[in-house]
Amino acid sequence: MKQKLIRIGLALAFSISPALAQSKPIPQLVKNAGKFRLMVDGKPFVMLGGQVGNFSAFPEIMERSWSRFKAMNLNTVEYPVYWNVIEPEEGKFDFRGFDQILRGVRSQGLRADVLWFGTWKNGAMDWTPDWVKSDPKRFPRVLDSGGKPIRSLSPMSKSNLEADQKAYSAMIRHLREIDEADRTVIMVQVENEPGSLGSVRDFSPESNRLFDGLAPAQLISALKKKPGTWKEVFGRIADETFNAYYLSHYIDQVAQAGKQIYPLPTYVNVWNGGYGTNDNFEKFDRPGETYPSGGAVSHMLDLWKANAPNIDMIASDIYHQNPITYLKILNDYTRPDNPLLVVETGRGIAARAFFYALADFSAIGFGPFGVDGGGEALRPDMAAIAADFRVVRSALPIIAGLQGTEKLKAAVEETGTGARNLIFTNYDALVRFRPPGRQPAGSVGAAAAAGPVEPSARALIAELGPDEFLVMGFESSVEFRPVQGSAFTAAQLLVEETGEYVDGVWKPSAPGLKAQGDYSGPLVNLPAIGSMVKIKLMSY
Ligand code: DGJ
Repeated sequence: MKQKLIRIGLALAFSISPALAQSKPIPQLVKNAGKFRLMVDGKPFVMLGGQVGNFSAFPEIMERSWSRFKAMNLNTVEYPVYWNVIEPEEGKFDFRGFDQILRGVRSQGLRADVLWFGTWKNGAMDWTPDWVKSDPKRFPRVLDSGGKPIRSLSPMSKSNLEADQKAYSAMIRHLREIDEADRTVIMVQVENEPGSLGSVRDFSPESNRLFDGLAPAQLISALKKKPGTWKEVFGRIADETFNAYYLSHYIDQVAQAGKQIYPLPTYVNVWNGGYGTNDNFEKFDRPGETYPSGGAVSHMLDLWKANAPNIDMIASDIYHQNPITYLKILNDYTRPDNPLLVVETGRGIAARAFFYALADFSAIGFGPFGVDGGGEALRPDMAAIAADFRVVRSALPIIAGLQGTEKLKAAVEETGTGARNLIFTNYDALVRFRPPGRQPAGSVGAAAAAGPVEPSARALIAELGPDEFLVMGFESSVEFRPVQGSAFTAAQLLVEETGEYVDGVWKPSAPGLKAQGDYSGPLVNLPAIGSMVKIKLMSY
């Protein structure tokens, strides 16, 4: 009897009910009054993502990671779908593993961002099926300037495009069939870090002929250039621009085929680089040599935006550890035509960069890479991001509602920066990082005594009302003062409650204790383990 009930339960959980299919709107990226929102189940959603390793998207490996995803406090798992696994023989598709993973992700209460490893993976063709790899006549590769084929398919080839389009369309059609009712999958990455690694462009005779001709009129007009040959118009970056033009069109056509079947939000991710742009100022930075040529790097963004209308977002993968470059890339990829989405990042800076991303760049998603890796315990850098996600997660609807306004601000510690002043409507807030005597003994203090440490204090403040704030973060104290020019000179805390939102309702973890017994002023302390504090102030 029990067995039977379980079977019925499973059948209900995994079957598609037409009524349900209609009840949940498709995930969508919408732009309203200049602000982007990712809508999931009809509500604004901020993706707390985590990407699994490149070889992890197999059912038994994913299933071993459920507890890891929980420990990371993710709401979305980013995982690959490999072309060579779903279409091992041309035209014969195998979605068994795909289905098992998707059902598992769904059963964990998570959403999915699926990453199409098709023609391109890190500027190469490693996840194409063997029948593609072994038939270079039918599926031509990029030829380098010496005429030698490289390990990357040519974006100039119609047969390459058609084969990828067929496989991608089959995957999207299948996805629609098994997920339309549940909407587990909220977005699709079309290809992975596309570009040609090993040559700046295809030097096949046909490519050379096109390269020697005029740059297309529609591109010239979109980029507001004067007509001429590729070389005349784009000079030093002509070869890269040429490759980006054909590559972005190729990927746009793959995405378009999928959108016609099931129009989920789409994006491409970027192995960043930028000849002369300082995106990698610590090393030689050359298309086709140190980064895949033709990808949507910062100086190709205008081209990609104009030439790939079926790609909704361009997402830079950010592995930089210096804040100058990290912030530059956040800034470059936040545009009126592109919301910030960070689908790969990691190591020391990422936990605090998440706060910049949410508040200063209105990120719709943020995901560290390699969330399933490592041993039993979370690595310290992953633990810090997991703590970020834990602290902000229940307030995401509020955060999403305030993004892009003056009512959501972040203060982030950097080397040499001990505090940050933030201005709100009625109050100024001074966030002091690692305030002395406030850290739990033996944690930050001991680490600091041992030598230089990664800056880690971070706070996010949301103005909920004229005198109400939500203060979230780590290793900081926040002091409030009425704005200058108001009728008041000082502020006082009326309510200070640590807690979280449960189904949208604030739940304090303990009765509200005001922190002013010691005459210290309106100070909110955020401990090293992090917390969310709701306060009400008054001015006098
Ligand atoms: C960037 C790629 O997009 C990922 O698939 C993965 O290979 C990471 N690099 C590894 O750091």
